[in-house]
Amino acid sequence: MSDSDGVSGGVAAPAFDRNTVLIFDTTLRDGEQSPGATLNLGEKLEIGRQLARLGVDIIEAGFPIASPGDFEAVTRLAQDVGQMEISPVIAGLARASKMDIDRAWSAVQWAKKPRIHTFLATSDIHLQHKLRITRNDCVEQVGEMVSHARGLCKDVEFSPEDAGRSDPEFLWQVLAVAVKAGATTLNIPDTVGYCTPVEYAAMIQGIVKNVPGIENVIISAHCHNDLGLATANTLAGIRAGVRQVEVTVNGIGERAGNTSLEEVVMAIHTRRQYFGGLRTNIDTTQLVRTSKMVSAMTSIVVQPNKAIVGVNAFAHEAGIHQDGMLKNPLTYEIMRPETVGWTETNLVLGKHSGRHAFSERLKTMGYELARDELDRAFERFKVLCDKKKTVTEADLEALVADQFENINEVYKLGALNVTSGTGTVPVASVRLIDEEGESHEDAALGNGPVDAVCNCINRITGADAKLTEFHVHAVTEGIDAIADVTIRIEMSNGGGKKFVFSGRSADTDTLVASGRAYLSALNKGLRSKQTVK
Ligand code: KIV
Ligand code: ZN
Repeated sequence: MSDSDGVSGGVAAPAFDRNTVLIFDTTLRDGEQSPGATLNLGEKLEIGRQLARLGVDIIEAGFPIASPGDFEAVTRLAQDVGQMEISPVIAGLARASKMDIDRAWSAVQWAKKPRIHTFLATSDIHLQHKLRITRNDCVEQVGEMVSHARGLCKDVEFSPEDAGRSDPEFLWQVLAVAVKAGATTLNIPDTVGYCTPVEYAAMIQGIVKNVPGIENVIISAHCHNDLGLATANTLAGIRAGVRQVEVTVNGIGERAGNTSLEEVVMAIHTRRQYFGGLRTNIDTTQLVRTSKMVSAMTSIVVQPNKAIVGVNAFAHEAGIHQDGMLKNPLTYEIMRPETVGWTETNLVLGKHSGRHAFSERLKTMGYELARDELDRAFERFKVLCDKKKTVTEADLEALVADQFENINEVYKLGALNVTSGTGTVPVASVRLIDEEGESHEDAALGNGPVDAVCNCINRITGADAKLTEFHVHAVTEGIDAIADVTIRIEMSNGGGKKFVFSGRSADTDTLVASGRAYLSALNKGLRSKQTVK
């Protein structure tokens, strides 16, 4: 992997173009840290390929030392998405330790453009209470570890974690050491979402003024949304000199989430003059498609009023607005829905559609399935066509997401029967099939039909899972609509601590979808128990 200088591998960091804001997508790393958003390998690859189509410059594929699964996912993304003709940089996260950095390099080295992203906290709160090291220890560790990373890879990003609450002068000192040791990007995280836009911009300006060598590196913004200011802070950072933004699709992430990719991109696009003519490399028409895919695969529903990608983002309800829109859309619309990928492609396929048309349709939606995956999806599509007259893109999205979600199952749903009504206690009987193909059956009562199904699955599997959230939504209009069920459960993974797992399933029968969604979340919990052991 080393190039001709024999020093370090990969290629140099992206060319420095002051007029372009680089989009660093961390949906697969910080975004996946949302409670219950765990993605399997197949889902990560699909999202990675869609991010490349969207035009992101850098994909943070994961935290390779975190688990063998994370290592494998980053490696596969580097080998697949990282080898595409026009491939994004593939970054792997590492704490500022040799072991972490070596592990990250082992995973990202297969990409055409690999990056090591290493971090160490700089706020006194973190140094004293979390790391229990002095400021001097911190400075020394940053110098050594950035230089170690740089010995492996030409493209190295350094983040002073909790920069937003760090003493500015100490922050400049640490950043200067990182630049000297070879960092090519300096990322400035507001880790706890504490800053206001004016403060965040001032922090960037302070760095621009006081860090020697800063003119040779890219400054990056990484904001969390605890006070609902992540996008505002990131945009303020751009005005102050930031040229890389760390964002997630739909703004998903730890706690209140990260800066939302689509919001920053469309702010730059729509208010180009305000941002001094800056641009991004994003194909904005792919935004809605990407949002839908991430929502489907993480089981995190997008709120209807979410900017850009929420279903109501372009809906005008008030009569006065509708009147204005009919006269001239400019009256109430600052961007066109088509610009971000909202299209009227409702009627797509029917029972006479062939395999080729089906696979082409999926491709335009961003899904490139392997042959066996396509076979399974096509089979389910045909079953659906018998139940539903018109199959829309939304139906296909639900069908494919369900298929990706329900692989690697510990238990499969064999049969489900529910009796409920007035004057009777709901009762469910369920048959589950385990990995050896053995059947397990039981019956249980519940407060309602869904509760009865969940109780029954718990009885069979012996799991201590508890349903904490349940959402059902009709994918399309009409009596024959698919029910898309998203659930969250709380479950211990063996060590006494409770973890959140999510599940999603779609079926024309709401109770079947509920049972499968519950089982899907439970399977993730059972799998994580197996890996903990
Ligand atoms: O929020 C944060 O500080 C991070 C760093 C690891 C960059 O995610
Ligand atoms: Zn973060």
